[in-house]
Amino acid sequence: METNVQAFWLGHSAVKLISPEGKIIYIDPFLKDNPSTPDELKEVSEADYVLLTHGHDDHVGDTLEIAKNTGATVVGILELINLLKKDGLAEDQAIGFNKGGTVHFDEFSVTMVSANHSSSYNGQYAGDPAGLVLSFEDDLCIYHMGDTNIFTDLELYGELYEPHVVLAPIGDHFTMGPEEAAYAVEMIDPDLAIPVHYGTWSPISVDPNEFKEVLEEFTETKVLIPEIGENFLG
Ligand code: NI
Ligand code: MN
Repeated sequence: METNVQAFWLGHSAVKLISPEGKIIYIDPFLKDNPSTPDELKEVSEADYVLLTHGHDDHVGDTLEIAKNTGATVVGILELINLLKKDGLAEDQAIGFNKGGTVHFDEFSVTMVSANHSSSYNGQYAGDPAGLVLSFEDDLCIYHMGDTNIFTDLELYGELYEPHVVLAPIGDHFTMGPEEAAYAVEMIDPDLAIPVHYGTWSPISVDPNEFKEVLEEFTETKVLIPEIGENFLG
């Protein structure tokens, strides 16, 4: 898997990607109130895109502030985007779409797939929760599962999108735990799996090595447990 895309885990479900031509993409930028995110990574001065998996606080995070300060385009499921527009997201920075759909940008595209979870935003219905499949020009495919448990469609996503990298929630309590996550990722069969959505608070304090041990025992998928702020594609 050769790529010039850079990818940094920022704690919890938040990820920053930098395309080969320097476009900056945030997924689920929950940073300021995220106890895992170091201070130097909390401030976002530049962003081109913010991609959202669902409406929960620990995913929408600083989206409105980032959009306002950087002019970034915010992309997510229709109902959530409509709620964000009511909270001040500019019309020309908002892209709402739905599952099965793909939105194309200059250097990458993003396809929305299912996640098995719940979703709301400030107590309001925010559409379904989702996973996001990002395809870059150099063929790199990254699948951020969002918050989910295991479900059989994952095997179809593996066949259809053939993601190289999967970001999987493993923290238990709000999502699947390490062992279930290993089985879920086995169904997708990527080259590389990155555990996320753990360690942020006590209910999701699990050992990512449990995920790594189960997955690497039964599959060819390599598991990397990155430091926060480290380029896990480097
Ligand atoms: Ni959630
Ligand atoms: Mn969550």
